[in-house]
Amino acid sequence: MSQRTDSGRDDLTVEPNHGPCLHALDRRAFLQRAALGAVAALIAGGFAPSTALAEQVAELTPLRRVGAARTYDMPTQDGVFVDTASELAIVRSGGRLFAFSLACPHRGATLQWKAGEQRFYCPKHKARFSTDGAHVSGRATSDLDRFALRRVGSQVSVALDQPLSAKSDSAAWAAAVLVIA
Ligand code: FES
Repeated sequence: MSQRTDSGRDDLTVEPNHGPCLHALDRRAFLQRAALGAVAALIAGGFAPSTALAEQVAELTPLRRVGAARTYDMPTQDGVFVDTASELAIVRSGGRLFAFSLACPHRGATLQWKAGEQRFYCPKHKARFSTDGAHVSGRATSDLDRFALRRVGSQVSVALDQPLSAKSDSAAWAAAVLVIA
């Protein structure tokens, strides 16, 4: 049984696709552009860092890589954090931490963060996902694969070789949450 406590599904309408074609862009550059765009919007808007989850988008660099395990500093505030090289997003929201793949479960396109909507967005077929990885709207028919994560002191370790599908193992998917409050 999946937990969809962040926002659940909603009725967002599908917008015309005026964005860049994912096929035409290098995935890493695309994600970095999205992250930098969010930071630029923050600066232009004069928001304080803690006003919204959207303004916390930042690139994550692993402290350690051991096999498929990645270890990061534990985020100290709510936000969206992206390890571009690992196509991984870590979201801290409301005292909970999630780690999930940035590969769309429909056809594998790399997701973007839509700051204005507080959603992850697939530019290929316009699917949207909430900050806990739950599918909200669009062509994809499943939630984002989560990864198991565990606290290691002041750090968090993510197992990238153990993607958890909400379709095939909903209990494990729902349990892939680290409560940090
Ligand atoms: S590839 Fe993402 S909705 Fe189709």
